[in-house]
Amino acid sequence: MCGIVGYIGIEAKAVDVLMEGLHRLEYRGYDSAGIAYHDGKDVHHYRAIGRVKELQALLSKNGQGGVLGIAHTRWATHGKPSIENAHPHVAGKIYVVHNGIIENYRDLRESLEEKGHEFIGETDTEVIAHLIEEEGKKYDFEEAVRRTAAMLRGAYAIATFHEDDPDKLIALRESSPLVLGVGDEQFIIASDACAIVAHTKRVVYIEDNEMVIITPKTYRVKDMNSVKKEKREEILEWDESEAQKEGHDHFMIKEIYEQPQAIRDAMRGRVDKECGTARLGGLSGIANQLKEINRIVFVSCGTSYNAGLIGEYMLEEIAGIPTEVEYASEFRYRKPLVDNRTAVIAISQSGETADTLAAIREAKTKGALTIGIVNAVGSTIARETDAGIYNHAGPEVSVASTKAFTSQMMILTLFAIFLGRQRSLSLTEGIEILNDLEMIPQKIEKILENTSYIKNIAQKYGKCANLFYLGRKYQYPIAIEGALKIKEISYVHAESYPIGELKHGPIALIDEEFASIVLVPQDSVYDKVLSGIEEIKARNGTVLAITTEGSNNLDQIVDDLYKVPKTREALMPLLTIIPLQLLSYYVGTSKNIDVDHPRNLAKSVTVE
Ligand code: M6R
Repeated sequence: MCGIVGYIGIEAKAVDVLMEGLHRLEYRGYDSAGIAYHDGKDVHHYRAIGRVKELQALLSKNGQGGVLGIAHTRWATHGKPSIENAHPHVAGKIYVVHNGIIENYRDLRESLEEKGHEFIGETDTEVIAHLIEEEGKKYDFEEAVRRTAAMLRGAYAIATFHEDDPDKLIALRESSPLVLGVGDEQFIIASDACAIVAHTKRVVYIEDNEMVIITPKTYRVKDMNSVKKEKREEILEWDESEAQKEGHDHFMIKEIYEQPQAIRDAMRGRVDKECGTARLGGLSGIANQLKEINRIVFVSCGTSYNAGLIGEYMLEEIAGIPTEVEYASEFRYRKPLVDNRTAVIAISQSGETADTLAAIREAKTKGALTIGIVNAVGSTIARETDAGIYNHAGPEVSVASTKAFTSQMMILTLFAIFLGRQRSLSLTEGIEILNDLEMIPQKIEKILENTSYIKNIAQKYGKCANLFYLGRKYQYPIAIEGALKIKEISYVHAESYPIGELKHGPIALIDEEFASIVLVPQDSVYDKVLSGIEEIKARNGTVLAITTEGSNNLDQIVDDLYKVPKTREALMPLLTIIPLQLLSYYVGTSKNIDVDHPRNLAKSVTVE
């Protein structure tokens, strides 16, 4: 993981730009941070353990200005968080920041040590600085970087500069994200456009096997064989304020409240009532190919995987296409049986998740049609898939995914309607689902109008050492997602099960101490889930039930009851997830957990 950012410009503002960039990139890792900048005469180098604010504290006493610089926020892969392992790494006059993993670093380090290089820390990155230094004995800086890249095996986005050359910043990429911001006589290179958008909206996406050489006035991109590449500038659509908290205590709660809008944005221009279908511009080039598809495989991780599980139910029910969901991290290690009539669909908020990207690459080699359902515009998965649908949910900053999840479910519904209408879904049914979809944002608004009930019960359920999250059919993936949310931001141990599985083993855990959160909206399996609740109550377990307005027979049975508005069964997950997101948020904040930066996690997992 890790976030990197680099600045070069006529104006001496490297420290400001880099520190602001690091704050924005902190979601990518936050166990240590560092900066190296050149003031035209000397290089200043600072590193701190912990959050970016620790580095900021160090700098406020010392650092300012700078015409050139690089900075890094780390999520440890090789070597514990320490000053020695924090970036930028330095070898002689070479300064380097890196995001990714160098797989052959041990061999490289050994051969460099034989040549007399001394290493200070344990990271894989340090070898990059030493390799450039070593190659620099024979070649100029640019050529030394190029030759170094040829020796590296693994994934990297690297930014580097030479102490004797304050007019040059070099960055390169292989399998880790890298984007160049193009301003007026200032350039910013970063792992994510969020570190750039406050300064310029003009960006160039650097691809694998490319290197960009930047001076204060211009830049040029070439491939690793030194062949010049023509690059197209793109304009970022993000508004800078979208990346700020706007008065909320945390990004997570801001993003929970943004869900009605994110869902409207996912639907905008895509609802075609006349034909009872979805207008999905990103799929127009493959619409005919999609008619021939006889199998769908979703590949994704974490919350995006859970969205895929809902997609599986919808695609089978609405479109009648056999569908499977695979953890992207497992997909390519099996022998995936896909062919040219299989659509392999990556679901990813960031579009940079290494496992998901690798799964898509694997599917491509097997001849499958690849599609991306991605939020981050211009991200690697969006660019490498044959076609795609953007979420348009805006930047999601909090580590815990919320608005990306609901917008993914919305996109999956539109996709299911689209494929359904290509097959046997009737016009009337298509229109009916679209009508219900359009009502979802206001139903979520209604849930968000009053959160006091959830806030209150958060005190009670936050004290539990263990929780079950239980559901059935469409609600089982919501149970999984609810349990993931409370684990990751509230540090409460939670397990999810299809409620019908309880009696096959897990029910042994139930006693008066053990609480269960049960999703029981009035749908086709309501009575079955009710029986499961009775089984828990018969063993003195505590139950919080999430049901729908109008369901009255639960009041006497369960301990706590929360009601969401009604909608059709397939769309119910869009509503039942909201109280579970809120519950996790309020449990987390009541325990003083920094919910936007939970321990051990990073927003974008760009390593395998
Ligand atoms: O960017 P992606 O959607 O590919 O990320 C996948 C997971 O890493 C992500 O959903 C993760 O599980 C979140 N922390 C969940 O809140």
